[in-house]
Formats: sequence, structure tokens, C-alpha cells
Amino acid sequence: MKHLQILPPSTVIDPLNWCLRGSDIAESEKRMKHLTGVFKDIGAFEQMDPEQLVYNVQAHLPVPEGTSGGLYFGTTIVQPGKVGGEYFMTRGHFHALEDRAEYYWGVQGEGMLILMNRERESWAERMFPGSLHYIRGGVAHRIANTGAAALIIGASWPSDAGHNYDEISQHGFSARLLDVADSPTLIPE
Ligand code: F6R
Ligand code: ZN
Repeated sequence: MKHLQILPPSTVIDPLNWCLRGSDIAESEKRMKHLTGVFKDIGAFEQMDPEQLVYNVQAHLPVPEGTSGGLYFGTTIVQPGKVGGEYFMTRGHFHALEDRAEYYWGVQGEGMLILMNRERESWAERMFPGSLHYIRGGVAHRIANTGAAALIIGASWPSDAGHNYDEISQHGFSARLLDVADSPTLIPE
């Protein structure tokens, strides 16, 4: 039926804020109350407003989860802020299929991509508008907002990658990104 038709795209990205509109979009948000155990300073975490928005994700999922050969696209917006000295950040995960890679890129704001391999070596890459990050399979990833404004990043990953959150929620990353004398610093756990 589509033969010779000229069609509008089924989904668009707002160039101002990278919000997605159209079909096959999933939305999720994480408030402080959803992030128990993520930040190190439990006392500071308990002082935070449980309704405080930390990050939200919009994802374009045009094929069912688990489809081999498909791709997903998403944007993540992390609010500025800290819990104790630790920057607001995503939970982080390995992909369930270990060899599945992912691209991240910086759109707006300043942040850090925190990475950890299977040997539990952790490192970080600076994120800024235009920064491009290839995350190899078997490398856990999370982003932290180190700036004063919202951090917006784009991502694209295979539709059969899946997400392994359990391992990070049980063992964490081997380092945390803390504000030390106004400078983002990786501190070993
Ligand atoms: C997908 C991916 C991102 C994250 C998003 C939120 O594989 O890496 O879209 O899902 O940045 O982070 P998590 O999923 O760790 O809460
Ligand atoms: Zn991922």
C-alpha cells in the first residue's frame, strides 16, 4: 500500500528540547522515591523530597522488545542536583545480552558517562552537546548531571539488548562520581 506514497514521519524529535512525539513512544520517570539504594549518602537521601524528579526517559520502540536486528532510540533528561556530594544520575545497567553495544551522545547540558567493565574497572567520559560515546557490550553505563541545568542525552541500542538492573542494584558500580572541591571526581567504593 505504501508504494509511491510520500509520507510524513510517524515520529518527530522536537529540536528545541529533544522530546519525542508520534507513535511507538514509551515514557518513564524516576523520582527520588524510585531510587532507594542508588545514592551512597543514606542520610542525605532521606532528607530529599521523595517526589523530586531525578530523570525521565522517552524511547521510540518501533519493534517488540527482544526483536533481533531492530534498533531503539531514546532521550534521557537528568535534572541538576546532588544527594550529599553525589550528582543526580541514572540507575545504570549492563545489557542482558552481554555483547550488545549502545551509542550515547550529548545534546544539552554537562554531564559524565560513568562506565564499568566486567573486571569492575570504572572510568568516565565527559558529556557535552555534541559528545559521542560508543559503549561496548559488557560495559555497564549510567549518566550523571554535573551542571546547573538539565542534562539531555540521546541513545540508540539494539532491540534485543535487554536490561540487567539486578547486578548494579546488588553490587553497584566500583566507583561513584562525587563533587570534590567543585570538581567531579571518581571515588572508589
Ligand atoms: C538504554 C539506555 C538508556 C537508559 C536511560 C535510563 O539501553 O541505556 O536509554 O535506559 O538513560 O537509565 P537506566 O535505564 O539505567 O535507568
Ligand atoms: Zn543501555
